[in-house]
Amino acid sequence: MSDLHSITDNSKSFAPITEFAKNANVTPEKYKELCEKANTNYADFWGELAYNNITWNKNFNSVLNESEAPFYKWFEDGELNVSYNCIDRHLNTQPNKVAIIFESDDGVVTTVTYRELYIKVCKFANGLKLLGVKKSDRVVIYMPHSIEAIVAMLSCARIGAIHSVVFGGFSAKSLADRIMDADAKYLVTVNGYMRGGKKFKVKDEVDNAIKLLPSNQLNNVIVQNRIDESCSMQIHRDEWWDDVIKNVSDICTPEFVASEHPLFILYTSGSTGKPKGVQHSSAGYLLGAILTMQWVFDYKTSDIFWCTADIGWITGHTYVCYGPMAVGATQVIFEGVPTYPNASRFWQIIEKHKVSVFYTAPTAIRALIKLGADLPNQSDLSSLRLLGTVGEPINPQAWRWYYETIGKSRCPIVDTWWQTETGCNMLAPLPGVTALKPGSCTFPIPGIFAGIVDENGHNVGLGGSGSLVIKKPFPSQFRTVWGDNERFKSAYFPVEIANSKYYLAGDSAHLDADGYFWVLGRLDDILKVSGHRLDTMEIESALASHPSIAEAAVVGKPHDIKGESVFAFVVCKNGKSPTPDTVESLKTELRNWVGNEIGAIAKPDDIRFGDNLPKTRSGKIMRRLLRNIARGEAITQDISTLENPSSIEQLQRE
Ligand code: WT7
Repeated sequence: MSDLHSITDNSKSFAPITEFAKNANVTPEKYKELCEKANTNYADFWGELAYNNITWNKNFNSVLNESEAPFYKWFEDGELNVSYNCIDRHLNTQPNKVAIIFESDDGVVTTVTYRELYIKVCKFANGLKLLGVKKSDRVVIYMPHSIEAIVAMLSCARIGAIHSVVFGGFSAKSLADRIMDADAKYLVTVNGYMRGGKKFKVKDEVDNAIKLLPSNQLNNVIVQNRIDESCSMQIHRDEWWDDVIKNVSDICTPEFVASEHPLFILYTSGSTGKPKGVQHSSAGYLLGAILTMQWVFDYKTSDIFWCTADIGWITGHTYVCYGPMAVGATQVIFEGVPTYPNASRFWQIIEKHKVSVFYTAPTAIRALIKLGADLPNQSDLSSLRLLGTVGEPINPQAWRWYYETIGKSRCPIVDTWWQTETGCNMLAPLPGVTALKPGSCTFPIPGIFAGIVDENGHNVGLGGSGSLVIKKPFPSQFRTVWGDNERFKSAYFPVEIANSKYYLAGDSAHLDADGYFWVLGRLDDILKVSGHRLDTMEIESALASHPSIAEAAVVGKPHDIKGESVFAFVVCKNGKSPTPDTVESLKTELRNWVGNEIGAIAKPDDIRFGDNLPKTRSGKIMRRLLRNIARGEAITQDISTLENPSSIEQLQRE
């Protein structure tokens, strides 16, 4: 796949598909109207949308309060409950509509209607209350992709507790770090689960995490009995989910909270070695989820929506839990992996459940092309009407395959650029309006004022490249880094860029001659590996904490399927590099070490040993050179000023 890392083809565009455009929620006229409104009266634009799309318990008067910028407050004096908006408000109109079609790893299908979801959430919310969970308490959810994970999230929202979902692939240590940072007193988890035919014993991992916590950290651990597998249960602390909901009412009055009340914290990688707790609000976040469901995903009541992202990531929060439920959609949730029992699984699920909107990641598309570019032709994909991608740039070749083989050239592709921090899609085509260019996320959606600027914050203009920024505050943006307002300000609103007025995304981007945005990749030391966001510093400190490692540097290496892979350069203590006999076993040991410190997703693909790392005289590691080496590129720059030029030659050797 030669064009993965090049932006080519930017001349070819695909006009909106006529059949699709006829029924699209946003027509060219509506689009114009929305943009004009956002341009002329920003507060009214958002105020009206918030008023019309959210069910308020108490209406708001103030749309945007900028007095403590960049700590913006939206719809400040309004009150709502997010679970009410996701469930209760659909009970009069569509109580028996299927909310969730869950397909397990082994193909068993369970459906839940809105009425049933309501009862599940009320019961679990009451159970949480009985255990003592109060408004604003933090509840960590460490569960596989499942109905119960959604129930747990919505139950927290119902009682005003703040959830923090930790992706199931993170290790015990990562889980413990997050529990402590959020100071969570409650943990919801499972005994284990099956994925790709393999069994994962989650409670054992949880017990390992608990050993790393202060003894009084957790009041309760709630364990859902997901598979037939025994696990240790500590009396008074560990409770089975089924016992928690046993004798509780199936009515739970929602706790109405202020718009700015934190809905959740979701940890994501920064570039400082310490994950950041991205704190989202209730009303602004919900509004972003709803509007993008309507505008970008063109939500129709008859849709069967399927977003393949795990609940542990922001995409799972916004386009599995909150977005689809808030608009009253029927959605598919799949527990397993695209390759089990074979590489047709996604296409079979689309056929079986008649999926109409399908949202996935470029890395999954590339993997599935490789495993069987013709396999989709064995399934009936005629229910599809819209396709989406997210997480990293999609290479034009994969885009074209997605468009032709999956969408049969009838389905627009929405390439959605956004981040954990932005809460919902920011740059994305409106499928009935925007002409598509393969590999470009096209333009900002109405109300989002994005730009590409140079280091002084000035627009680069057509044909230019620079740093992606968002120039005006927007409702769905995160409110702060949990417990670290300073980090929020300095990382996202630096003084150098327009005097702290712009939100700095951390991505580099190109503006083509037609004004299309092309997001190229991160400007910091964050990697995107199979769409997962990883911090090189975090992997480096994990490696350096191994008893035989003195120092490590990690860079990304382009990878045909993963987008990027982790490449580690390692220096052993006392200059004792492994011998040819021991090198492979040390590599395996280091990979497992990183797996235990962070999680399997962070394990390096490549590890190379050296006596030292290339550094400047002032001691700075020359990452650019390491990137050249990882890519097998010739080094053209003058290295004679390095502290240790000979290190280069050694590291270049396999
Ligand atoms: C980073 C955010 C947003 C949900 C999943 C990822 C990259 C995201 C695109 C896209 C090019 C993209 C950016 C961004 N990214 N979408 N459509 N085209 N790059 O959320 O883990 O917070 O990562 O993902 O680099 O900054 P995240």
